Amino acid sequence: MLEGKTVVLGIAGSIAAYKAADLASKLTQAGVGVEVVMTEAATRFITPLTLSSITGRPVVTGMWQPASEFSIEHVSLAEAADVVVIAPATADIIAKLASGIADDILTCTVLATRAPVIIAPAMNDNMYRNPVTQENLSRLKARGFVIIEPGYGRLASGKTGTGRLAEVDRIIDAIRQVLQRKSDLAGRQIVVTAGGTREPIDPVRYIGNRSSGKMGYALAGVARERGAKVTLVTAASLPSPAEVEVIAVETALQMKRAVTRAVKGADALIMAAAVADYRPEEVARAKIKKSSRLNLELVATPDILAEIEGGFIKVGFAAESEDVIANARKKLEAKGLDLIVANDITQKDSGFGADSNKVTIIDKNGKIEDLPLMTKREVADRVLDRVAGILGKR
Ligand code: PMT
Repeated sequence: MLEGKTVVLGIAGSIAAYKAADLASKLTQAGVGVEVVMTEAATRFITPLTLSSITGRPVVTGMWQPASEFSIEHVSLAEAADVVVIAPATADIIAKLASGIADDILTCTVLATRAPVIIAPAMNDNMYRNPVTQENLSRLKARGFVIIEPGYGRLASGKTGTGRLAEVDRIIDAIRQVLQRKSDLAGRQIVVTAGGTREPIDPVRYIGNRSSGKMGYALAGVARERGAKVTLVTAASLPSPAEVEVIAVETALQMKRAVTRAVKGADALIMAAAVADYRPEEVARAKIKKSSRLNLELVATPDILAEIEGGFIKVGFAAESEDVIANARKKLEAKGLDLIVANDITQKDSGFGADSNKVTIIDKNGKIEDLPLMTKREVADRVLDRVAGILGKR
């Protein structure tokens, strides 16, 4: 798993920087090409010479090397990385990454990479618990960074608390998991839908819903990172995930046409979109004038998931506010699904618009997997674990 891979090891300025030497050594012995990038502060705690002696490679420490080298360094390291690991990561570097600041070689490399990024924080426990640090870590987590929680124990201050760099073996386990995860959907084709459809009433108004598209975009991004070829049919307008084919639609009918085309040859269709069940029968050509009453005749839209057939795995989502499991099960059966992901939208920080979600995954054999509140990317990972599991058995 590790042999032949390239790990960019970022070291920030913490007393725990000396442990990065052990990490670099174990990775090098496992056959990993370790490219070390150090912040200026890190070089005060451990010398680049120590790291380059361990890895057998030059260590990158600054932005202001000659132009030719610089242009190679931050972009080429970012592109060469199978995974970027920052260990130890200080509160400062975490804050910079959360805000997209790129004022040194390490932050530039992270901003330029498409590889997964693992962050192993190490700092004083008050700094770690500070709401701003926790908020920054949550933002990074929501964007797909893997955070390895620091351990509890004696800190540099002499006090005991949470903030010790995680054990080196735990960091290596996380690298293994990320590398493994990266390729389990390689060669697979997955279609994802996202967002709430908008059914026009007139040139100005529409019937819509509260779906932001975040759940579907998380699924599309994570599926791509795990190696799948992904088509995202979306009624939302969030920034596109890297290397995903995006097809923008507005209405349920447009979504049906786009999905029907996209699923040809697909291995799975995952519908996180909130598709309108009704649309106005007539769309007024001109803006409807204000009056004391307006009657709209609505007709049912096609049920895309129920109607589509083709031998691929069908995954539905159900946003429920009562009898969550029973209602989701009914939808799973009625639409002939392999899996349904039931969201309990009454839960705080869950469902429409939130960055996190509380879901239960139900399969067609009745098996129920109740998950705790987690980020939408983590939910995406768990749903894709199940899809990969079904595909593996076929
Ligand atoms: O977009 P976010 O803000 O991140 O919010 C995510 C979400 C809450 C919208 C998402 O997680 C979710 O639950 N989506 C499904 C919403 C829903 O309740 O769908 P439904 O019960 O109407 O439909 C069940 C399934 O059939 C869904 O997979 C839906 O995409 C599909 N469907 C529904 C109607 C229709 N005409 N055609 C369909 O294919």
